[in-house]
Amino acid sequence: MALLQLEQVVSNYGSINALRDISFEVNEGEIVTLIGANGAGKTTTMHTIAGLKELNGGKILLNGQDISRWETQARVKNGIVLSPEGRQVFPDFSVLDNLMMGGYLQTNETNQQTLETVYELFPRLKERAAQAAGTLSGGEQQMLAVGRALMGKPRLLMLDEPSMGLAPLIVKEIFALIQRIRDLGTTVLLVEQNARVALRISDRAYVLETGRIVLSGTAAELLVSEDVQKAYLGM
Ligand SMILES: Nc1ncnc2c1ncn2[C@@H]1O[C@H](COP(=O)(O)OP(=O)(O)OP(=O)(O)O)[C@@H](O)[C@H]1O
Ligand SMILES: [Mg+2]
Repeated sequence: MALLQLEQVVSNYGSINALRDISFEVNEGEIVTLIGANGAGKTTTMHTIAGLKELNGGKILLNGQDISRWETQARVKNGIVLSPEGRQVFPDFSVLDNLMMGGYLQTNETNQQTLETVYELFPRLKERAAQAAGTLSGGEQQMLAVGRALMGKPRLLMLDEPSMGLAPLIVKEIFALIQRIRDLGTTVLLVEQNARVALRISDRAYVLETGRIVLSGTAAELLVSEDVQKAYLGM
């Protein structure tokens, strides 16, 4: 059984149909990427899975259980955690306080343990624990956004455009860390416009166009697909 399954999910903003009929699944231990142009519906998909955007049709299943009507908090408690587009760290709060906000549903003891793991993955965050988050570099803020999500002890970590606005070297570093996070046992659903780097670390991917999945396959298949190369890999 898939960890996460979307069945014919529909999601609208008023009269705008953002998701028209989305079905896909993410299996335990996978890195799965959603690729798509601006406005394709990638963020809406993640918000709908997180319960931040209401569902207007279809179903979302977690381990076979229908969670379509669950509150966001219940989803977080059950391991669905989002690292949002644009990072959204709290600029005036310290790095440590930002991290602790990610652990708001966990006990102090759990947070102390998870914090050690996060600091091991991101030593920079440990060095900068007392620094105001708004004064971190873009790459550091992205690490903080991922670290904060990890404090929620995700089974499914959703990352919305983690590479946005970052220099190639930092992008490489972030993607290597995403692979490590998966290797440590967290399933990852990734949204990226940077399709090439994303496909290189993914197991499978889905291509989203104006609210519909138009193509899917293993990452290796999509990397050599002519349609994907033309539209998303600049070839
Ligand atoms: N709050 C909103 N109100 C109205 N329309 C919205 C809202 N949020 C998104 N949309 C519309 O829904 C569609 C999908 O948007 P979404 O943000 O999911 O795209 P995306 O694939 O994440 O794009 P990007 O790559 O630019 O982040 C777009 O047409 C967008 O204009
Ligand atoms: Mg988006």
